[in-house]
Amino acid sequence: MEESVLQLYPLPSQERPLKGLYLSHNLRESGPRKNGKPMIYSNFVTSLDGRIAIAHPTRPGMMVPKATANERDWRLFQELAAQADLIISSGRYLRDWADGRAQEILQVDDPRFADLRDWRRDWGLPAQPDIAIISRSMRFPIPDVLTEGGRRIVVFTTADADPERVTHVEKQLGKVIVAGETSVEGTPLAQGMAGLGYQTVYAAAGPKIHHLLLAAGVLDRLYLTYANRLLGGDPFSSAVEGPLFEPAVDMSLGAVYYDAHAPDGLGQLFVQYDNV
Ligand SMILES: NC(=O)c1ccc[n+]([C@@H]2O[C@H](COP(=O)([O-])OP(=O)(O)OC[C@H]3O[C@@H](n4cnc5c(N)ncnc54)[C@H](OP(=O)(O)O)[C@@H]3O)[C@@H](O)[C@H]2O)c1
Repeated sequence: MEESVLQLYPLPSQERPLKGLYLSHNLRESGPRKNGKPMIYSNFVTSLDGRIAIAHPTRPGMMVPKATANERDWRLFQELAAQADLIISSGRYLRDWADGRAQEILQVDDPRFADLRDWRRDWGLPAQPDIAIISRSMRFPIPDVLTEGGRRIVVFTTADADPERVTHVEKQLGKVIVAGETSVEGTPLAQGMAGLGYQTVYAAAGPKIHHLLLAAGVLDRLYLTYANRLLGGDPFSSAVEGPLFEPAVDMSLGAVYYDAHAPDGLGQLFVQYDNV
């Protein structure tokens, strides 16, 4: 983890320590904020052939490919999570958690990330960001560990969600917000988050939630890690899944870093884009 990365853009090119690289993006202060809307940013690690998830080998559902996941990318994921007031996740994430397939999103209890716990404390933030769960089915378990320490979980769902399930989740968590008729929509979602006082939001869910944020124009920034590998395989997920964007969503390049050390010494690019 000590080895540095090479900043290729913006120029001049320079060596930068990996640790602290995304903290230096200072998302709590310098991110674009429009009309009181929270700053919302996403992040994916992808193969060169655009796969962010592949079929799980033994169970139904998808998973991040082992061939692209790596410690150095995970460090930057943690730095993005550490800067958030709120992390967006999904019903799917909690189901995977119950199934033993998901891990805590921001791992401040892990000694490797103790500096991020200190970083949050220095900013006067609670140890963990709150969590927004987006779900239409409203069928997910709520692990006790998630709400320990007074952490808040807010659920965003649809007007047509099963009322019994809504009441059940409301009893457990207190806060369920309707943010769309048959699908959660990005605009009421962003308004709902702003109304609860959240300013800096990390969208750590998958490609469908990414689509609804992009479709509404509420996603401000995208981080992509391109691991130098091609995977092939079917089925797979890309970073965005849903109807064609018309017009296309335009992004401007903010930063490019070359990391020669992972995965497995092959190399990867860390790239940051802003929604224009
Ligand atoms: N490589 C990476 O960096 C990366 C990053 C993120 C995720 N992933 C992987 O991508 C795969 C898919 O992730 P995911 O299932 O979390 O992604 P997703 O397709 O964005 O979200 C799935 C869940 O979110 C809810 N949802 C999505 N769109 C909705 C809408 N418009 N309205 C209401 N609810 C909506 C649904 O929950 P309900 O079913 O409860 O209604 C749905 O099951 C996973 O294997 C994950 O590990 C990879």
